[in-house]
Amino acid sequence: MIQTSKITQHFTTGELAGQSILESRKTIGDLEGVFRDRAAWERLDPSTLVYRVQAHQPVAEGVEGGLFWGATILEPGSVGDEFFQTRGHLHSRANRAEFYVTVAGLGALILMSPDRVTSVEWMTAGSIHYIPGFTAHRVANIGTEPLRMLACWPSDAGHDYETISRFGFSGRVRRIDGQASLILE
Ligand code: PA5
Ligand code: NI
Repeated sequence: MIQTSKITQHFTTGELAGQSILESRKTIGDLEGVFRDRAAWERLDPSTLVYRVQAHQPVAEGVEGGLFWGATILEPGSVGDEFFQTRGHLHSRANRAEFYVTVAGLGALILMSPDRVTSVEWMTAGSIHYIPGFTAHRVANIGTEPLRMLACWPSDAGHDYETISRFGFSGRVRRIDGQASLILE
């Protein structure tokens, strides 16, 4: 049997196309508690789009041994001196790792180790980022164009948002004197 793929990856826009792609979006209103400057967050229109995620999940969520493929498109923007960023998470099965690949734009991948040491990897077109297990991860768009990135993660990894929403990261990427900088808290 000879078949063509039902899912395609666009290498300029970072978008996935094809059958049964899951799509979700996060607006400013969905991101309560993500940014340190609450007053600045409250001044923004809650319907403002911050990011979209597309996912190709060829097996059911939670199945051991499979892989998922996703695309995230994170808009440029700021909340106070922070940049538009993802919620950030650990994996529910905390030892599960993940790859991110940058398609376009400028980003900061914010990583936090189990002993709460936060570090940053700059993201530019073509950069590949390995996120080890037990490592919290969040992405900020530090540029002026949409940040387009791909991710590949195990189908049994899951997302643990609760830990980050309770304890946060120990550092934030903020615009200081016009430069994106990692500021430890
Ligand atoms: O699996 C991942 O790590 C990514 O696909 C993220 O889920 C995506 O970038 C959105 O971030 P978050 O899940 O933290 O909202
Ligand atoms: Ni992840």
